[in-house]
Amino acid sequence: MTEHFKMDAPATEHRLDDMAQGLVGAPLDRPDGPSKVTGTATYANEWQIEGMVHGVMVRSPGNSGKVSLANRDAVAAMPGVLAVIQDDRLLRNPAQGTADAAPIQGARHADYTGQLIALVVAENFEQARHAAQSLTVVLENGETVTVDPDTAAVEPQEGQAVDQGDLGGAMRDAAHSVDVVYSTPSHSSSPMEPHASIATWDGDDLTLRGSYQMLKYNRNELADALGIHPDRVRIISPFVGGGFGSKLGLSPEAVAAAIAAQELGRPVSVALTRPQVYEATMRRSETRQRVRLSADGDGRLTGLGHDARVSNLPGETFAEPVLQASHFLYAGSNRQMSLDLVRLHRMCAGSVRAPGEAVGVTVLENAMDELAHEIGIDPVALRLRNIPETDPESGKDFSSSRFREALESGAEAFGWADRPGLKERREGEWLIGYGMASAARVNMLMESQARVTLLPDGTARVETDMTDIGTGTYAILGQIAGDMLGLPRDAVTVVLGDTGLPPSAGSGGSWGAASSGTSVYVACEAIRRQLAERLDVAEPDLMLKDGRATYANQTQALSDILNGDEIAKLGHVTPGDTSKAVRQATFGAYFAEVAVHAATGETRVRRMHGSFAAGRILNAKTARSQCLGGMTFGIGIALTEEMAFDPRDGHVTNHNLAEYHIPVNADVPQLTVELLEERDDWANPLQAKGIGELGICGAAAAITNAIFNATGVRVRDYPATLDKVIAGM
Ligand code: MOS
Repeated sequence: MTEHFKMDAPATEHRLDDMAQGLVGAPLDRPDGPSKVTGTATYANEWQIEGMVHGVMVRSPGNSGKVSLANRDAVAAMPGVLAVIQDDRLLRNPAQGTADAAPIQGARHADYTGQLIALVVAENFEQARHAAQSLTVVLENGETVTVDPDTAAVEPQEGQAVDQGDLGGAMRDAAHSVDVVYSTPSHSSSPMEPHASIATWDGDDLTLRGSYQMLKYNRNELADALGIHPDRVRIISPFVGGGFGSKLGLSPEAVAAAIAAQELGRPVSVALTRPQVYEATMRRSETRQRVRLSADGDGRLTGLGHDARVSNLPGETFAEPVLQASHFLYAGSNRQMSLDLVRLHRMCAGSVRAPGEAVGVTVLENAMDELAHEIGIDPVALRLRNIPETDPESGKDFSSSRFREALESGAEAFGWADRPGLKERREGEWLIGYGMASAARVNMLMESQARVTLLPDGTARVETDMTDIGTGTYAILGQIAGDMLGLPRDAVTVVLGDTGLPPSAGSGGSWGAASSGTSVYVACEAIRRQLAERLDVAEPDLMLKDGRATYANQTQALSDILNGDEIAKLGHVTPGDTSKAVRQATFGAYFAEVAVHAATGETRVRRMHGSFAAGRILNAKTARSQCLGGMTFGIGIALTEEMAFDPRDGHVTNHNLAEYHIPVNADVPQLTVELLEERDDWANPLQAKGIGELGICGAAAAITNAIFNATGVRVRDYPATLDKVIAGM
């Protein structure tokens, strides 16, 4: 029944190039699209369950001290109120998607302002909200804690450090060099759908309807928090209104809803408010980054240094992996890198939209632009000159790379050759500039399972606990199964988002499509073998298309071959030697044209282009959409996105979509995306690499580099808001 496949050797067969149905790669619509746009897709907070009551979370007013609820009894007696819950399990294992850590933040001690420390449950939402707002939270015996990264205690992350050759010497002897410090602020994931959970108990069995990215892990986290066996927990999450990292792990409302539902014996629904999403789920760490680049007279890098400082709460293990792509993006034999984690009492830091590269590649790409200007060569030429033959630190081969083609083809598509000189182009009051940057992101394969059933009527069903967080999972898994089994797209039903189904890799780190897709592929190959056995032909000689099998000069409907039976196979992929034998990464290039207002410093992105290579593209439409989304968030990083923390207590002062400005339609011009043909045999049998996050990994630098081209101003402190631009003009 179970087909296990371990990715130990390159997959050179490229079967998906030859399947007769021809679905994989096509720009097919999402099957879940109509239900989403007509409002009939049921999101986490929309389930209507008999007897359901409502909870509202309560925040800590300060960042240190023992929490007590001063008027708890009075609040518990308010109209409709059913429970006031303060429980140490509330915040166990917050939000990063691991169930192996001891609780760091409990509900009885405050570690940051905005931390969720209690739940008030009432018959209806309005009563719960009123009671929650009436609760007086008191902090006692608080210590004075640091909320400022500049004064916080430093913990060097030794495992991230690189020291190769002699960077100091290379800088000293360089024909050209740059040594620059940039900073990036904290970012919020800001999914459109706030975190929400509805918990229902049936005896000892808990069902949670929630909005999460990685259900296999989330189920373990919830069981772990409650002290029950994971078998007792079912999580249902068929539609997720965006995650961007903030739903990789549980957020506090899930545990709170489960505890309350158990205590009350009724279903409990808890949704975070928008400010709570901003204050208490996850932030990307702010970073300070120093980049040193040394080059010879021809612009060949002789050295590359990247030192970064990030932050998190005391005890939290996550450190924004800023250097992740700096290890392999460019050549240069003298290399020095370090990552420092400072401990402070801002909200928890974790994965947000391409952790590491989104800000790390961005700053490296600014420094490369500074070097190109210093040398006086074209920024594209500088990159082309420094593409490494092999991984510059490990010496391993790249599994595949079309970095060079992305730079060349992107420059061509954008019209880079027409780039104006520094401060050269003006249209009325607007200064026009062009900028570019490279894109890079690591590629990963993760363990994943899926069951595929070929049904007696000749249709198929794909089942896995994989999620679709807006990425297109429903579309691509159906395309893979359809191609492998020779079925039109609408003859394949894809069922996702339920821990009752085979456990998948989940949606994270851009690995979802390749990992869950491979499990579907492996299951389908096993079904093909069984069909071939029935027909007494060799499996490769079986041509499947439109629900019919053609073999040995005859054609027969699958339903006839099945003769009332069904064939069900469980595909199970685990990563193997190919994850270590080579360097696996995706690459690309961004090009942007901006207009900067000469009087105000306001920047408008006029157009932006991205060329990307990420192995086989499984669906040209959903892949393009991922890149558009990444580039849009790149505009956000460049110009508007910044979490603001009060320097006195570290609380988030812009905790809503109005003041934490994600680019909206008016900020985003026509974006163009080119997806280059590529096959990566080392990645998986689909030859596909992850594309979800590639579009953001460096994108902001194309815009700030364009601002420099337009104005001569380098803003080294993101975002490049108009006050910073005008100050330099
Ligand atoms: Mo992603 S930030 O790993 O959801």
